[in-house]
Amino acid sequence: MATADKEVETTGLTGWIDRRFPMTSTWKKHVSEYYAPKNFNFWYFFGSLALLVLVNQIVTGIFLTMNYKPDATLAFASVEYIMREVPWGWLIRYMHSTGASMFFVVVYLHMFRGLMYGSYRKPRELVWIFGCAIFLCLMAEAFFGYLLPWGQMSFWGAQVIVNLFSAIPFIGPDLSLWIRGDYVVSDVTLNRFFAFHVIAIPLVLIGLVIAHLVALHEVGSNNPDGIEIKAKKDANGIPLDGIPFHPYYSVHDFMGVCVFLLIFAAIIFFAPEMGGYFLEANNFVPANPLQTPPEIAPVWYFTAFYAMLRATTDPFKIVLMIVIAALALLALLRARGKWRIGLPVLAVLVLIFMALTESKFWGVVVMGTAVVSLFFLPWLDRSPVKSIRYRPLFHKVFYAIFVFAFLMLGFLGTRPPSPAATLIAQICALIYFAFFLGMPFWTPRGRFKVPPERVHYKPH
Ligand code: HEM
Repeated sequence: MATADKEVETTGLTGWIDRRFPMTSTWKKHVSEYYAPKNFNFWYFFGSLALLVLVNQIVTGIFLTMNYKPDATLAFASVEYIMREVPWGWLIRYMHSTGASMFFVVVYLHMFRGLMYGSYRKPRELVWIFGCAIFLCLMAEAFFGYLLPWGQMSFWGAQVIVNLFSAIPFIGPDLSLWIRGDYVVSDVTLNRFFAFHVIAIPLVLIGLVIAHLVALHEVGSNNPDGIEIKAKKDANGIPLDGIPFHPYYSVHDFMGVCVFLLIFAAIIFFAPEMGGYFLEANNFVPANPLQTPPEIAPVWYFTAFYAMLRATTDPFKIVLMIVIAALALLALLRARGKWRIGLPVLAVLVLIFMALTESKFWGVVVMGTAVVSLFFLPWLDRSPVKSIRYRPLFHKVFYAIFVFAFLMLGFLGTRPPSPAATLIAQICALIYFAFFLGMPFWTPRGRFKVPPERVHYKPH
């Protein structure tokens, strides 16, 4: 039985290439002899779909760039030109704009799968960390791209977000001036956002996706049972519960791709604006620096984080300060060693700093921390099993509450603010952070089911 490590002997053109470049061995290592658990389910479609959408964004992006003008006086009209005059331009543009939203749909589901099956746990911490960095890059990519059509929402959205940086004490105003390159969002800003959107971020993104997959193939895939298939191998060193990625999962993923493309095409042809969620009505109006739109809301995929930002009012800052003081007290009573004094001292410094700074700044901190918390998941979760399948019922309830709070935040972020909505958003933000911060305490507790020795698999 050949394995990827064994010397590859090929003839003809393949042999000629193989003696100069590791083509066949790479194919074997990562595709035809990459042994993946045989119990992959629906949730395992989204990795390959994310790759598909990435390719779609790059290819359609290249074609858009051929007719788009990164110039404040021409940008809006050039997008209209693409939509009306360029042959198939409307299709390319809708594939790109719909692709942006579908990227986030796919990636959110992909991350949710990781959360459910504990795919971020040892030995996949780096797979997860690369994933989180990809998520950050995706957000940056979407933000920079949104300015390019130079509509009202593009302009005012960028204005609001860049202005957030000015809330950072001491360096804030200079920092936002430096990001914009001007005192307001202008042609200079458009040019640099274009540079970031079409080359800088995509390069980093592609590099991170490669690192993500290399790290995954180094340790092997997790699965819905959350058990390591490499622990049980046959005489040839092949995992007993593993099947070669190709042809088994290439066919499986191909089916996922077909279903996805049906949905993707249906959106592009019948609802490319998706009721204002994928393309906002206000963005069909050219940017007007003298007229603020009645309501500035980001696109749906940012709204959960945006709702946290808006929820950080002065009273909420005080709630956060009380929570920090309570945690410091807990550390004083329960922590051991240097943490016992270190944590309370740190908390006092943070509290003083919080008292001196405005809540807008803490809104930015809350929003940033909400994303950064994800990076720490591998070390926060201390449950003895990976998969949700073998966790106690109360863990499942906590997961459900967390997901509900996140979706609720996403919904509230799309609505105009009101006192009731702000209160609900504040509660949901607290739930979001309690989920992560509490993990070291609740994840090891409860009655766990014993995971099976071998993966559960029912052939179709
Ligand atoms: C451009 C975006 C991304 C692409 C193209 C991508 C691609 C992939 C692919 C092809 C796989 C293997 C197939 C699968 O398990 O579904 C995978 C696995 C994985 N990805 Fe991603 N990914 C992306 C973003 C993310 C993000 C944002 C995260 C988390 C923050 C993440 C976390 C993971 C984890 C933990 C695994 C291993 C899952 C397991 O073995 O159970 N990925 N990714």
